[in-house]
Amino acid sequence: MAEMCTIHRHDVLIIGSGAAGLSLALRLRSDLSIAVTSKRELREGNTLYAQGGISAVLDAGDSVESHVRDTLNAGAGLCDVDMVRLAVQRGPTNIRWLLKKGVQFTRDEHARGADGYHLTREGGHTHRRVVHAADATGRAVEDTLEGRVRALSNVALFEYHAAIDLISANKFNSDRSTTADNRCIGAYILDEQSGQVGTFLARFVVIATGGASKVYLYTSNPDVATGDGIAMAWRAGCRVANMEFIQFHPTCLYHPQAKSFLITEALRGEGARLLLPNGDRFMLRFDKRAELAPRDIVARAIDHEMKRVGSKYVLLDISHRDADFVRAHFPTIHARCMELGIDMTREPIPVVPAAHYTCGGVVTDARARTDVPGLYAIGETAYTGLHGANRMASNSLLECLVFSELAAADIEAIYAASSPVDDVPPWDASRVTEPDEEVVISHNWEELRRFMWDYVGIVRTNKRLQRAKRRIDLLRQEIIENYSNFRVETNLLELRNLVEVADLIVQSAQRRRESRGLHYTLDFPSKDRSQLSPTVLIPDRYQPRPETQDG
Ligand code: FAD
Ligand code: SIN
Repeated sequence: MAEMCTIHRHDVLIIGSGAAGLSLALRLRSDLSIAVTSKRELREGNTLYAQGGISAVLDAGDSVESHVRDTLNAGAGLCDVDMVRLAVQRGPTNIRWLLKKGVQFTRDEHARGADGYHLTREGGHTHRRVVHAADATGRAVEDTLEGRVRALSNVALFEYHAAIDLISANKFNSDRSTTADNRCIGAYILDEQSGQVGTFLARFVVIATGGASKVYLYTSNPDVATGDGIAMAWRAGCRVANMEFIQFHPTCLYHPQAKSFLITEALRGEGARLLLPNGDRFMLRFDKRAELAPRDIVARAIDHEMKRVGSKYVLLDISHRDADFVRAHFPTIHARCMELGIDMTREPIPVVPAAHYTCGGVVTDARARTDVPGLYAIGETAYTGLHGANRMASNSLLECLVFSELAAADIEAIYAASSPVDDVPPWDASRVTEPDEEVVISHNWEELRRFMWDYVGIVRTNKRLQRAKRRIDLLRQEIIENYSNFRVETNLLELRNLVEVADLIVQSAQRRRESRGLHYTLDFPSKDRSQLSPTVLIPDRYQPRPETQDG
């Protein structure tokens, strides 16, 4: 029996409220009615915690060519050159857009042609090109965008609303065999406070749900990063690419009370060195760029050294720099370390690698369109081809900004030709929860994240991937049972999505029979030139989009 289910109608439904989702809401015409839904409060997501900054060619001595080249190098042969060029070229105007919105980036009176802003450096970049707000860039961006969005009368905000699944037009046709219309027309969304599932209908639906790093036991990401958008899009018929390329950030704080706390790569950009517990510097043994080699190389070197010397961490030392400089440029990290009794101006910081960024995701084009008409994906949840086999530092916020701009332009261009969507049946809420089984859900969460860390982490093997796959198949069975019997609640939704995403990661890793970028396997330790293409997985419901189709 179906309970009362609210129906919401909008022109555009944006699922997710990080840099990607909020930028899009701000960029769309103000006469469109927009809904933004967010799993927690609006600001919670990866964007809020971004530290280092946003890459863009702003310095007089830098060039688009150089930024493109560095991105391609970091991406280890798998970037889409056209998409890289598109994103890099639009970097400066997007930074100016943020400045216009009111983001306060750190200034530098000596900056050459960088509009007076300080530019820092991070791994893989051959120039200083990372604009930042001290070491809390994400907070500055998210706070500003949130303030702006809250002031818009055409945007309805739905906090603590978790999208469960996308709605396809053809799902509710009486005779599904006669139609190929798999257009996305909305989503079923759980109001976490009332427990009710609402039907959100829209002419255009945009997934901006961020990454999936919570699939690993140790991660720099907040709890919302459970890959919901990737899993929903996959179930709706979208191709997903390059999921084997999970980026492990080399330096997260190692401390029992320091869950998910990142130590920005900009610290290494400003001269910090990686040391073994005995004080020996080791990165030069692995790469001539030492601490500023791309992340895959640094994370693997740390992993190797920790295993070699039997240590639970390595050290990151910036104590040789002037203490006032360190406090001024890294106030957030300094304060957090001081709370834990570490004075980084005088002593090194214990660090470990942790899952940080999902390079793969929902396949999109240069207009941010997915394979399903009416459905867009932007930000970390999307695969645009920008990052290839390894994302270069600070290219992610850039991607969020550029592709939200492109999605807005596309939606506006085709809006007039679109029509309102028909009603659909409400969510079937006839299921009941069995509270004594909730322990199974939390146990499965823990089990999944632990074996993904152990078997599908920085160093992989065929055997470890097979082990992970077997466990995923078992978990999937249990979750299907739970999902069809229980009333939906966020933990179960997230677990269902995490298992889906874990499966996509493992399947992709099994297909790539070489080591490249972030995917390193002892069974195929070298690059293989014959595998110079992305790993694209195709779901059962996939329908190729006709070339001429609009929207
Ligand atoms: P997010 O900001 O993660 O937002 C996702 C949104 O989707 C959230 O609002 C969430 O609640 C919502 N959501 C998720 N699932 C659902 C659902 N089912 N229903 C409804 N809503 C949902 N990148 C850089 O370029 N520079 C940096 O300096 C940098 N530093 C970083 C530091 C840290 C600690 C981390 C974790 C990441 C960093 N990154 C950095 C990466 C970058 O921050 C992210 O890739 C980027 O912010 C992603 O933005 P987004 O809008 O795609 O997703
Ligand atoms: C960092 O500040 O080290 C994170 C930068 C990024 O992930 O791009």
